[in-house]
Amino acid sequence: MSEALELQLTLYPQPVLRKRAVEVEAFDADLGAFVDAMFGCMRRSGGVGLAAPQVGDRRRVLVLNPTGKPEDDLVLINPEIVDRSGPITLHEEGCLSFPGIYAEVRRPDRCRVTAVDAAGAPIEATYEGFTSRVVQHEFDHLEGVLLVDRMSPADKLQNRPLLEELVERYRAERTGS
Ligand code: CO
Repeated sequence: MSEALELQLTLYPQPVLRKRAVEVEAFDADLGAFVDAMFGCMRRSGGVGLAAPQVGDRRRVLVLNPTGKPEDDLVLINPEIVDRSGPITLHEEGCLSFPGIYAEVRRPDRCRVTAVDAAGAPIEATYEGFTSRVVQHEFDHLEGVLLVDRMSPADKLQNRPLLEELVERYRAERTGS
């Protein structure tokens, strides 16, 4: 299937990344096309997950594929994390909105999620390990919470030159200089 819509990544510190995303109400062909385009953008960018604000869209839509196998494509619309449990694990995370930046992030190993799919059918599932981490990272995006907020002070210091570069690039694009 051809990808009619080619989405562009939204990089830090674009303001849309800081806004709480809004509930999806229309489960129509436009939503299906948007979800397909999000998968396309995620794959092109080499990511394992993508949230709608990362392509400049305010809807509560996540696409994920933690394994790279086509059958593991997962769409979570209007997701809620209803429970987090298990041991707190520390693992390196990256983010397509922060190219080249990586940081160790603490998260509970398991999360229980309710959501709907692109057709509006309910999903209720518990994720653990890497998938749970990706779900929690992407869910953060819908709340306007970013990798930079989850970093230790040491990681923030280490990544400061790259973070400042992103801010500079954003300012330059805004002023057209
Ligand atoms: Co991210």
